[in-house]
Amino acid sequence: MGEGKLPAHVAVIMDGNGRWAKKRLLPRSAGHRAGMKRMIGLSEHIFDRGVRYCTLFALSTENLSRPQEELDGLFALLREYFPENAEILRNKNITLKVIGDRSLLPEDVVSVIEAGERRTEGGTRGTLVLAIGYGGRQDILAAVNRAVREGKEVTMEQFSAMLSTGDMPAPDLLIRTGKELRISNFLLWQAAYSELYFTDVLFPDFSDAELDKALEAFSRRDRRFGRT
Ligand code: IPE
Ligand code: IPE
Ligand code: MG
Repeated sequence: MGEGKLPAHVAVIMDGNGRWAKKRLLPRSAGHRAGMKRMIGLSEHIFDRGVRYCTLFALSTENLSRPQEELDGLFALLREYFPENAEILRNKNITLKVIGDRSLLPEDVVSVIEAGERRTEGGTRGTLVLAIGYGGRQDILAAVNRAVREGKEVTMEQFSAMLSTGDMPAPDLLIRTGKELRISNFLLWQAAYSELYFTDVLFPDFSDAELDKALEAFSRRDRRFGRT
């Protein structure tokens, strides 16, 4: 990678697990397992590159309407991998946070998530955010309703702080793997000025070298934020 600018916050829509499995004549669950393994590798590499915040879209609110069998498989993977994942992050001094509506997840999955968050609390090298049962519209709506309940108008800064990503800067770079050219209800408010990077590479194949390509592309972008 060159000497260019580095994004402080990288967000990734991890898409394409199902198609990765299909290509290999494997069940979708095999794609999710491969995706889970890649997610761990990627989250290690991304902080080694000097990125401070990384938000990974693992499961959308809408994904929760998938067949129960697929969801059960995804939850089983979270139960299986979350504790060792948290341990890896703790050893790397990285804080793990989960955003999304926990009331939509099985209770024991929530317990595993919360244990992982506690285990990594206070990590100062970076923050890894996993979006699980997350929707951008739902995030905005929850903040709006809170402001309404509190009966006050809010500024942009105050509103940003009320979102589930409140204590982080907005993503500088938003990557989507797996060919689709859409945001699919990810960080809608936060991505207003993110640089977008779309790749056909399916998430389990999104290697460290592929991430470096995205970082390299970012370093060549000219961000104007509406100015000349
Ligand atoms: C992304 O992979 C992971 C989740 C949304 C859980 P998909 O499961 O959407 O994979 P494709 O898009 O069907 O290939
Ligand atoms: C977006 O992928 C959500 C995640 C990767 C978590 P989807 O597979 O749900 O997106 P659509 O349905 O193709 O828009
Ligand atoms: Mg998909």
